Amino acid sequence: MSVTQPASSRAAEILSRPVSINGLTVPNRIAMAPMTRMFSPGGVPGEDVVSYYGRRAAAGVGLIVTEGTYVGHDSAGQSDRVPRFHGAEQLAGWAKVAEAVHAGGGTIVPQLWHIGMVRKQGEPPYADAPAVGPSGIRVDGTEGTGKAMTQRDLDDVIGAFAEAAAAAERIGFDGVEIHGAHGYLIDQFLWAGTNRRTDAYGGDPVARAKFAAEIVAAVRETVSAEFPVIFRYSQWKQEAYDARLAETPEELEAILAPLAAAGVDAFHASTRRYWLPEFDGSDLNLAGWTKKLTGKPAITVGSVGLDGDFIKGFMGEGSPVKGIDDLLDRLERDEFDMVAVGRALLQDPEWAAKILAGRLDELKPYDAAALKTLS
Ligand SMILES: Cc1cc2nc3c(=O)[nH]c(=O)nc-3n(C[C@H](O)[C@H](O)[C@H](O)COP(=O)(O)O)c2cc1C
Repeated sequence: MSVTQPASSRAAEILSRPVSINGLTVPNRIAMAPMTRMFSPGGVPGEDVVSYYGRRAAAGVGLIVTEGTYVGHDSAGQSDRVPRFHGAEQLAGWAKVAEAVHAGGGTIVPQLWHIGMVRKQGEPPYADAPAVGPSGIRVDGTEGTGKAMTQRDLDDVIGAFAEAAAAAERIGFDGVEIHGAHGYLIDQFLWAGTNRRTDAYGGDPVARAKFAAEIVAAVRETVSAEFPVIFRYSQWKQEAYDARLAETPEELEAILAPLAAAGVDAFHASTRRYWLPEFDGSDLNLAGWTKKLTGKPAITVGSVGLDGDFIKGFMGEGSPVKGIDDLLDRLERDEFDMVAVGRALLQDPEWAAKILAGRLDELKPYDAAALKTLS
């Protein structure tokens, strides 16, 4: 960094470089992190959802990762207000979202989601289906509350992810993100705390990654070769913040290598604070390690532009603005390739435009009241 260069133009210069993920060129380094909003009654994203995403693309977000959207499996979700990625009306709604994002100059992938054992009593159309998971165990350790998946269940869910990915390509999305993070179904397989299987899908890290790898392979086989497949994962779980998939880089590599081999084009490493080193003896964060271990492009996330982490946001806490110099240093060092932004973009549709134009004094603190509207 040149000493004389103002911070604002440095941000613009570093973040406005295009980046390739398989056959897709993303116009800059800023991604919108997936954020469940529950504004889609009947699972259908309506006009308000279309303009919510369209606005952010028009204001400079290079890649939008949509909120988690349920794949077509009876146990995939529980809320009728979470958008679904199957069904004619639902997909027609999503096609309009993709169109609006493209009109704004952005690119977009849906985040394909199955909640697994997180499912509680659902609303129609999810009311009767059982919660399913690798061993019928909830993330908090409660046993016997769900169904341990049979081979038939596994095949059905794998098929549902592949179908959703095919639909994404058909209706004009630029790729897909598979939600393998935060203690939901795929992560329940990856994590030994919820995966007690003694068949080929349980045991060591490679075995625990088998279900995820089969989903990736099925998706890869269904879509065009150049269609990007992104895989999001995390160490932490929604109901167990200190949980870890991997205690060492070697363990992490054992999990990620089969996924990369199955066809992941980029990894989205979900952390709550991007500046924290993942393992002792190195400054690399989780995305940095992911890129180093797999050689694939990596997206970082976690309190970008904000001081307080998002769990506090859920509890209704706001967060002051925080500078991004350290983030820019890491991007410049190629520690990772893209930066996903959650709450700052939820709060302010113009966040990317302000950052790219150096209007840093106009950045807004996060106020949890923003969760209540789809502005
Ligand atoms: C309201 C809200 C909803 C979220 N929903 C999802 C989701 O559907 N899928 C997902 O992978 N992460 C979800 N997250 C996590 C975000 O993608 C992101 O990783 C987290 O907010 C940290 O980024 P931030 O500090 O920039 O907000 C959600 C976060 C928030 C605040």
